[in-house]
Formats: sequence, structure tokens, C-alpha cells
Amino acid sequence: MTIPNILGDTLTSHFDLIREIEIGLLDKSPSISPKFLYDPLGSHLFTAITLLPEYYPTKSEKEIFLQYKNEIIRTIGVGGTLIDLGAGNCQKAESFFNSLKPSSYLAIDFSIEYLKEAVTKLSGKYPHINVQCMGMDFSKKILIPESISENKRVFFYPGSSIGNFLTSEALHLLRQIKDQAKGGGLLFGVDLMKEESILKLAYDDPLKITAAFNLNILNSVNSLLGSDFNIDQFDHKVIINHNENRVELFIETLEQVTISWPGNSRVLKKGELIHTENSHKYTLKGISELLKDAGFLKTQIWTDSKDYFAVIYAQ
Ligand code: AVJ
Repeated sequence: MTIPNILGDTLTSHFDLIREIEIGLLDKSPSISPKFLYDPLGSHLFTAITLLPEYYPTKSEKEIFLQYKNEIIRTIGVGGTLIDLGAGNCQKAESFFNSLKPSSYLAIDFSIEYLKEAVTKLSGKYPHINVQCMGMDFSKKILIPESISENKRVFFYPGSSIGNFLTSEALHLLRQIKDQAKGGGLLFGVDLMKEESILKLAYDDPLKITAAFNLNILNSVNSLLGSDFNIDQFDHKVIINHNENRVELFIETLEQVTISWPGNSRVLKKGELIHTENSHKYTLKGISELLKDAGFLKTQIWTDSKDYFAVIYAQ
């Protein structure tokens, strides 16, 4: 078996993660970063979300990839290094291997444990591709190691995860990608603004999978922080914020509770909300302007038949 090259783990230390959670919980408007949604159970619940009929982004993106595959490959051109941001199980990137023919593949994710397994399988399956992986919290800073060839880096960021960032943060991220793409570009997905009823169903599904996904962040925090959140005392809440063009996820407190953890505690009143995620929805004009501001000179956009979602290659 070929063992993939693990380029090291630039993960934030356990201490810093705990500090980050504490600061969020003690804030006047409490929040927990969406990256804590993806513990092993959370990662599986997210996969379940992508299978829900109400969760259109995965289906719309798949439709675009299917319909415009050849055109997308022609636009990007074959070869180079494929850099997968938030690789997860690496399946989406793998579906491009035979057509895009990258000479190297670098898989990056916040959770290296989950990634290592996926990447080990991949390197056995594609011995001609130089498969490498890295743990990185790229929500703060993207730094591609110098050992990665500078000849055509194609960044891959599917699934509209860019929507988790505020516009200013997305701009910062896009600029860093542009600076490090070196003659390559960025292939990414972005969710488009649409009717409120469709958004509401996609983020508050009748099977309550999204509710479980959101509430599970409290389990994830309990095990990292040693806190005593009891899921029964909370509920999933979705707000469509039209002014900010985003879906907002919260955890609502159903009765007054005191949450304790080593060294601190926090009282949450009945009805108080903990913010867990923003999912920004763009217009084609909005995302084009953002890309231009980030320094991308050329962009190609593909959308699905309902104009729910866009796949973009920016150079
Ligand atoms: C993984 C960030 C793209 O915003 O749609 C799905 C996460 N949250 N349902 C999204 C999510 C609730 C998802 N992203």
C-alpha cells in the first residue's frame, strides 16, 4: 500500500480551540464557530443533510458538474496541482481525477484524522498522482507549503462553504488563494439568493436532520471544553436575514440554564440564542465583484437549470 505524504498538521492547539469556544460562550451575544459542527457524528450528519430532498445545494452543484464537466475541464486545462480545501472524504475531488489529470493532489481539512483515512485509500488507487494531505484551519490563514509545485495550482472549494464567511472574510480568503494560485485558479461553488421558503426548508428539514446536526455542536463543545450542555434544553432555530443575504443558524435556549465548564460558567435565559452558523447567499453580480476585488481577472460561471447555485472558475 502507498502511504500518502502527510505534510504536517498546522492545526490550532487544543488550548487555543478551548479559548476560542470560551470567548464565544461568554460573549453578550453568545456564539460557537461552525467548524465545531464537524466532529465525527457531525460529519456524518452533514453527509445525511446532503442526501435530503430539501437540501438543494448538493443536487444543484452535481447537476452543474454533470452538465458542464467538459467545459469546466477545458477552461481549467489538464495537469497541475489540485488543492482541495475542506477535502473531507475527498470524493468530489476524486471525481475530477480522470478528466483533470492532476500530477499532484493536496487535500486540506480542519480534521486531519478523518482525512488521513480517505487520502490513504486514494493514494493506493491513483499511484501516478502524488497524493499529500495537511491539517489546516484555513478559516484564519491559508499557507500552501513551498514544497508544493508553483506550476499551476488549482484550488478546489466546492459545496458553497465560502458562504460561512462574512463578505470581508471571504475577500481575505479569496485574496490569499489568488496570491498562491500561481498561474492556476480557483474552482468553487457558491449558493445563490432565492425564495425564503426554499431556504427555510433546506435548513429546517422535516426529518430534523439539520436540527440534529446543529444541536450536536453542543456535544462537540462538551467533549472539547468539558462543559455540561444538555441537548434537551435547546432547540434548532433558523432565521433568514434578508438585510445580510444569509441564512443564520442558532441554538435556542428553552428554559433558563447555567452552563458550567472547568474555570467558568454562563447563565442562558429562556429564549436566548447561541449563533452557530451563517450561510451567505450571493447574487452573480455580488460574487463577480468580490472576485474582482480579490484580484481575479477572469471568471467563468456555470449555473443549474433553476439558478439555485453557481460553479465558478476564477483566474
Ligand atoms: C457546508 C457550509 C456549505 O451552509 O449549506 C448545511 C452547512 N448547515 N445545513 C451550508 C450546513 C446547515 C453548509 N455548508
